[in-house]
Amino acid sequence: MINFKEEIVKILDEKIESLSAEEIRNAIETPPNYEMGDYAFPVFSLAKVYRKNPAIIASEIAESIDSNLFEKVESASAYINFFINKDVLSENILEEGKERGSDFGKVNVGQGRNVVVEYSSPNIAKPFHIGHIRTTIIGDSLKRIYDFLGYNTIAINHLGDYGTQFGMLIVAIKKWGDLKVIEENPIPELLKLYVQINAETEKDPALRDECRYWFNQLEKENEEAVELWKWIKEVSLKEFNKVYDMFGIKFDSYNGESFYSDKMPAEVEQLEKSGALVDSEGAKIVDLEKYGLPPSLIIKSDGSTIYITRDIAAAHYRHETYKPYKNIYVVGSQQILHFQQLKAILKEMEYDWSDEVVHVPFGMVSLEEGTLSTRKGRVVYLEDVLNKAVDKVEEILTEREIQKGEKIENKDELAKQVGIGAVKFQELFNQRIKDYAFSWDKTLAFDGETGPYVQYVHARICSLLEKGGFSLENEVDPTLLSEEAEVNLLRTLYNFSDVVVDAHEKYEPYFVTRYTTELAKQFNKYYNTTQIIVEDEKLKNTRLLLCYIVKNVIKEGLNLIGVEAPEKM
Ligand code: ARG
Repeated sequence: MINFKEEIVKILDEKIESLSAEEIRNAIETPPNYEMGDYAFPVFSLAKVYRKNPAIIASEIAESIDSNLFEKVESASAYINFFINKDVLSENILEEGKERGSDFGKVNVGQGRNVVVEYSSPNIAKPFHIGHIRTTIIGDSLKRIYDFLGYNTIAINHLGDYGTQFGMLIVAIKKWGDLKVIEENPIPELLKLYVQINAETEKDPALRDECRYWFNQLEKENEEAVELWKWIKEVSLKEFNKVYDMFGIKFDSYNGESFYSDKMPAEVEQLEKSGALVDSEGAKIVDLEKYGLPPSLIIKSDGSTIYITRDIAAAHYRHETYKPYKNIYVVGSQQILHFQQLKAILKEMEYDWSDEVVHVPFGMVSLEEGTLSTRKGRVVYLEDVLNKAVDKVEEILTEREIQKGEKIENKDELAKQVGIGAVKFQELFNQRIKDYAFSWDKTLAFDGETGPYVQYVHARICSLLEKGGFSLENEVDPTLLSEEAEVNLLRTLYNFSDVVVDAHEKYEPYFVTRYTTELAKQFNKYYNTTQIIVEDEKLKNTRLLLCYIVKNVIKEGLNLIGVEAPEKM
């Protein structure tokens, strides 16, 4: 597809000697509205070289440009404004849309480079609760976006399956646990035991020693300890997988913290070799003052390693195994310091790849008062939230059936696609760093800026295409698309690639969510003001081809945020 901006760079590069192509590219702006042009180039910086008034420079350059890619090139004070030729735009979009179908706008930025995306990473034996929703959904979307752009992604679930708390759980299970009872309702039962052992160890130092002893046994691979730990992991994962299945999320690796237990000694050795590790009251720490960071504890005084020690080993392992262009961690903003320290430690260890480590933080999710109750107690389980979303959509669909007096096909499947899609959409609608309050009303509305709305527009286009007898073989004429709403749609379609590229550069899936919503809204306006299925065959077919491309891009936009696009709603 034609790249108008690059064409402008080429034209100006020939005319302006004092600026490089790169400088020209960086200076090109997008005016606030189309009346001022599609692109603008400010000439202020040329005034010194040309020794002329900028307005005169702008008008001289503008007048000297003669290109059929632009309808007109005008100067306005110190700016040169470029108005793209709508027919060229239309021709390009229609051709690309016809030829590439669902690959419309796909650009191979990644060129097969590996990118590790770590997300979700819940802690074993702990509830998979509403707080985990963000990492899971943002991470999955980033993975999809990187995949779309030609990277080879590796999705990792860095399970919290190690640490002294497993010594405590083992003791608690041995003392009070009933494996049958736990198996039936694993997470809440394990949570109960964990709360109990915590309370008891507060009172009883001997018990604390016992817990430590059992964690030590686990580290030494004592059979009984390992068996119990494995079992805890298994029953927990079974629960977590229910949520992943509902989300339609898969991981390439579940290598969690325990995977690195035998890889830590080598890292400690390297830390010592690089001179970064110092003794501090029996413990071992790394001083990070020169990074403006507090010191980081690496080995506790009882010799046990901690969370960050395992992260050092994990980062190194990922580097060796995947040689990634980036190693992305989608983890909440509470852990900003942790990842700053991790990167600084890797630098201290003289690992020259430390810059591949990228922390993608996000704000907190809170619950609107009283909106989320749970049958399982105080914690809000993610599984319950998803089930509730599906149930609510099911209710809405049933009401519709009654109103319309006809049955909806695949109602259950549709309720899942819409309910779960709505939760993901809402989650990815804002800048990730912002805190937000989960609201059922906002999530499940069928109009406004919601998942169901965008899905609905998509389904509407599907039925329109069917009704109009759309076929890729039909003859079209790009110059017939001249209504304002049509040109706006063409412009928006043209921007799709750039939006996805921006989203990957800034790790912001919400760019895609907003874009897709805007495209759906624009389409709706078009649909409401323009008759698409008209008498004139060629005009009808050209309009339908535009609709087909809009449909494909909405579908891909939704896919990039992990939302399905049903064809009937
Ligand atoms: N399991 C941790 C938690 O739930 C998150 C792990 C984040 N990833 C990492 N590599 N440290 O808080």
